[in-house]
Amino acid sequence: QKRRRSSAEETSESSEDSESDPESEGARDSDQPGTSTGTTSVHNLVPNTQPPPAGTPAPSQTAASAPPRPLANPTIFIPVNRTPEMQEERLKLPILAEEQAIMEAVSENPIVIVCGETGSGKTTQVPQFLYEAGYSSEDSIIGVTEPRRVAAVAMSQRVAKEMNVSQRVVSYQIRYEGNMTEETRIKFMTDGVLLKEIQKDFLLLKYRVVIIDEAHERSVYTDILLGLLSRIVALRAKRHLPLKLLIMSATLRVEDFTQNQRLFTTPPPVIKVESRQFPVTVHFNKQTPLDDYSGECFRKVCKIHRMLPAGGILVFLTGQAEVHAFCRRLRKAFPTRGSRPQEKEEEKDSAEAMRKFKKSRTRARKAQAVALPQINLDNYSVLPVGEGDEDREAEMDEEEIVGSDLDLDLGDSEADGGEQPDVSLPLHVLPLYSLLAPEKQAQVFKPPPKGIRLCVVATNVAETSLTIPGIKYVVDCGKVKRRHYDRVTGVSSFRVTWVSQASADQRAGRAGRTEPGHCYRLYSSAVFGDFEQFPPPEITRRPVEDLILQMKALNIEKVINFPFPTPPSMEALIAAEDLLIALGALQAPPKEERMKQLQVSQLSCPITALGRTMATFPVAPRYAKMLALSWQHDCLPYTIAIVAAITVRELFEELDRPAASDEELTVLKGRRARVAQMKRTWAGQGASLKLGDLMVLLGAVGACEYAGCSPQFCQANGLRYKAMLEIRRLRGQLTTAVNAVCPEVGLFLDPKMQPPTESQVTYLRQIMAAGLGDHLARKVQSEELLDEKWRNAYKTPLLDDPVFIHPSSVLFRELPDFVVYQEIIETTKMYMKGVSAVEVQWIPTLLPSYCQFDGPLEEPAPTYCPETGRVLCYRTSVFYRVGWPLPAVQVD
Ligand code: CDP
Ligand code: MG
Repeated sequence: QKRRRSSAEETSESSEDSESDPESEGARDSDQPGTSTGTTSVHNLVPNTQPPPAGTPAPSQTAASAPPRPLANPTIFIPVNRTPEMQEERLKLPILAEEQAIMEAVSENPIVIVCGETGSGKTTQVPQFLYEAGYSSEDSIIGVTEPRRVAAVAMSQRVAKEMNVSQRVVSYQIRYEGNMTEETRIKFMTDGVLLKEIQKDFLLLKYRVVIIDEAHERSVYTDILLGLLSRIVALRAKRHLPLKLLIMSATLRVEDFTQNQRLFTTPPPVIKVESRQFPVTVHFNKQTPLDDYSGECFRKVCKIHRMLPAGGILVFLTGQAEVHAFCRRLRKAFPTRGSRPQEKEEEKDSAEAMRKFKKSRTRARKAQAVALPQINLDNYSVLPVGEGDEDREAEMDEEEIVGSDLDLDLGDSEADGGEQPDVSLPLHVLPLYSLLAPEKQAQVFKPPPKGIRLCVVATNVAETSLTIPGIKYVVDCGKVKRRHYDRVTGVSSFRVTWVSQASADQRAGRAGRTEPGHCYRLYSSAVFGDFEQFPPPEITRRPVEDLILQMKALNIEKVINFPFPTPPSMEALIAAEDLLIALGALQAPPKEERMKQLQVSQLSCPITALGRTMATFPVAPRYAKMLALSWQHDCLPYTIAIVAAITVRELFEELDRPAASDEELTVLKGRRARVAQMKRTWAGQGASLKLGDLMVLLGAVGACEYAGCSPQFCQANGLRYKAMLEIRRLRGQLTTAVNAVCPEVGLFLDPKMQPPTESQVTYLRQIMAAGLGDHLARKVQSEELLDEKWRNAYKTPLLDDPVFIHPSSVLFRELPDFVVYQEIIETTKMYMKGVSAVEVQWIPTLLPSYCQFDGPLEEPAPTYCPETGRVLCYRTSVFYRVGWPLPAVQVD
């Protein structure tokens, strides 16, 4: 039964506009340039370029001067022409019982939270409720964000089908593709897409409603969106252009949203959707398999299929290649007619999807390169990383590591362990992962062929975003592939780790949708007891300097005031700002000012032009700084190669492992000698040797490309072939990113670089020093040796203990006075890896924030003379903050 909208509702709609909003004072500040005391973050949330124009005095006038925009009128009921079957199916969903409650809450509150078990109908139904109630029009539509691309695409298709309309009306937009039209009224998108739209239109005027789906996943982008939207909703209300915000979560754990005064001053109402959940019996393994969880899963599925009554099986694994190998194994063991050709086709499709994805990405980046005029220092920058790519990347990442068909086939025959195909027990096996073509994904929602059991082999996409009908048995490997951030280098990688208890329970819950079910956990209850309770919000798991840089690029100056649902720690924020100041991405406040800021926790350094450029590169700010400096003297191709090599990490084969036999030891020794020799060759002599290990990276990349990047070359010289291929891919990406910022440079990737000239090497050393400035170390001089443990040691600003140049470094015997390093690893001692020598004269100019100056700098400002390698027109004494104060050094 559809409600008729009453005039009372209209009243409540308009009362929202005039509701007393505690943030309104702050918002008023924002309308008056010059009132810079702004203690509320709203002040900082309004980009300078946003209307109203300077001098507009009062908010009421602002509203009046805003262009009149037709708003969707929620008093009009819009009929939907569903098929009777679809309508019947919908009526079974628990959320239908809550339609009235949800719509009333939405009409009376600007922000509403909807909680309900996965499968209760949140994603598919709530947008339809809103549509029917008139919350969309030509100019203001309903937007729904998903943390995953796969969900954005699948859900837009499903909703279009349920509403019996085409995808011209219910559309999707993911980063490199979309099917939006003029007719679009409901738009599904990834959270990253909406964040980009905020960069262009802060008030999100084309939306009447924004739904943040899967908020419980707490992806960094979802979190930032919630912070931004809490303010956008208030600003829109003031302009009499109300925006509704719906937050949808699969768990009831929403305190981070409701108990957070900073985020939402009035806690939004929470509508709970009670769903029928049948009991699920959880079976733990007695023992936890150490590494072959996939094999253990396989045995479990075989057992279930042979011995237990009818009912679908859902298997949770971690990545695409794993899922494929598993499907192949199952199909071999329990063939159905036509499973073989289907498999072939699936593999072809998956390879095709990957190619298409990569191609569309390249095309989009090229298009971007043409669209941006030149180094653009004033516009908002593009976001460098992420945008819901994580799943795809996690899956591709594995695809690239597991790699060739050969690997998989080998794995197959060995793993089957002589399993005889059981033709009498066919199994309908389907894979499910993010990169799978949408038509193939849709297969899992269709009933299996009559009398044949369904078995879906999935990654964690099946955990909360997609609900598969008819599942009675869940087999959970307990693992998930997650992005892991290296705190030292800021470099990320994908690692397989245990899931949280909450995720494990979500997985188990998939078994009890339609009847009582069973969940088989391939780990012991003791291991489960050690799982973390909830996955920690992503924002607390990673360094935030890149995030802070992005937010500053959005003109959010006082990041500390930003209403994060879960803020990063104060230390993480300060560290991030300090690093960004040192890199020149943020304007350094005067010293006393900064101290005050730290005391009252008011970090508020504005972004610099350099910072805006840096924000456009898809690498950590340290490396972005290197790229930004490399315009000069044609250094870009070299810096790109070095940054790519650093990001990929270990270029050389792992040779430090203990040998199992004498023979192996001999082989290992030989290979180690070869690697050492190649490192010396690539480091060269004189100027180039001073670039140190970074020169080795450059030399290795250059030489390898010169040899056509062949597996033979890598094998002969101790290089990891996969790493070299990855570097080539990254060099391509970074070249595109640089071109996007400044197309007239017209940089094109020439794999075969000429070696840098001697003076280019000197510039490169300065560029590296400028980027790695916080990783500066000073050699302890013999006259200051306190005891033996400091012999040949270096002092760094952050560590009390001596650090040493790693024996694998080409500078191990050189012992330069000052070095920068890429990372410190701790084994028997603290060792610096990736070391490059720095000239003492460069430090005051390149890294002034790491020096204490004795008196003001003399005019004119210090300039570096490349011919002599000296700093000119500059005379003052410098105390290096690196280590103990030294006698003042006079620099001419
Ligand atoms: O968002 P939430 O997890 O609450 O549920 P949903 O995704 O809206 O799914 C509601 C129902 O629609 C589930 O029972 C799904 O099985 C079904 N559905 C479907 O049959 N086909 C799709 N492509 C998507 C959902
Ligand atoms: Mg959902």
